[in-house]
Amino acid sequence: MAVSPALLAQQLSDRKAAGEKLAVLTAYDYPTARLLDEAGVDLILVGDSLGMVVLGMPDTTGVTMQMMLHHAAAVRRGVQRATIIVDLPSGSYGMPDMAVHNARRLVEAGADAVKLEGGVDVADQVRAITQAGIAYIGHIGMLPQSVKHEGGYKKKGKTDDDANRLLADARALEEAGAAGIVLESMVPEVAERISKAIQIPTIGIGAGPNCDGQVLVTPDLLGAFPWFKPPFATALANEAMETTRAAREWIAGVKGA
Ligand code: KIV
Repeated sequence: MAVSPALLAQQLSDRKAAGEKLAVLTAYDYPTARLLDEAGVDLILVGDSLGMVVLGMPDTTGVTMQMMLHHAAAVRRGVQRATIIVDLPSGSYGMPDMAVHNARRLVEAGADAVKLEGGVDVADQVRAITQAGIAYIGHIGMLPQSVKHEGGYKKKGKTDDDANRLLADARALEEAGAAGIVLESMVPEVAERISKAIQIPTIGIGAGPNCDGQVLVTPDLLGAFPWFKPPFATALANEAMETTRAAREWIAGVKGA
C-alpha cells in the first residue's frame, strides 16, 4: 500500500501551496478507522498514543512493534481512502538499518507512511527510510517517547536557542525526504515560523492555529478518555458519559431495577 516518499511529499506540498489545511486524526481499531475515513479525514495516524489511550499504559515508552503491527493491520482493514501513517515505537529505530527493517514491517501491516520522533538526531534513520522507498512523516517539538529523559511533558520553543534548534530539526527532516512534520506542543509563533520556512506541511498539536494542518488524538476529540484532557483539545462529543449512561441503563434492565 505504501506510497513513494517523493509522491507523498509532492501531494502534501501541493495541498499546502494551495492553502488547503490537512485534518489528521488517530485511530487504533477497525470501526474508528472506517468511520474517520468515511467522514473525510485526510490522514489517519496509528499513533503510539495507543499505549496510553487504548492500552492503559502510563506513557508511550512501553509500546512495542508487535502492538503497532496488530493495530496497524486493524486500521488498514477499515480504510479505503485516507493515507495511513503508523508510528515507529520507542526503541525500534536506534540505527538506520533497524529503522528501515521496522518501517518495512509496518508497511507490510498496512502503513502508507511511517512516523518517528526526532530531528537532526534521527536524520540518518529518516534518510535510510525514504531511500528505501518508504514515505515518512516527521515529529518534532515535545516528544512523548522522551518523557522519562526529559522529566515530563514540556512545551518547546520558549527560548531563541530552542526555537532555532526546532527550525534546524524541521529543515533536516525536509532535506532527508519527509513528506510532512508533526509539531507537538510548541510556542505558536515558533510553529508558524517553521511552517513558513519549509515547503512540506506542518501538522500541529498544541502548536497554535498557524500550522498547515492539525492532528488530534481521537479519544480527546470524542471525550472518550475523561481521565486526562490536554488543554489544547476541545472535545466535540462526550463518549465517556454516553458509555456510562448506556451501561447503567442496560445493567438496570438486566437486574429489573
Ligand atoms: O502517537 C500519537 O498519537 C501522536 C500524536 C500526538 C501526533 O504522535
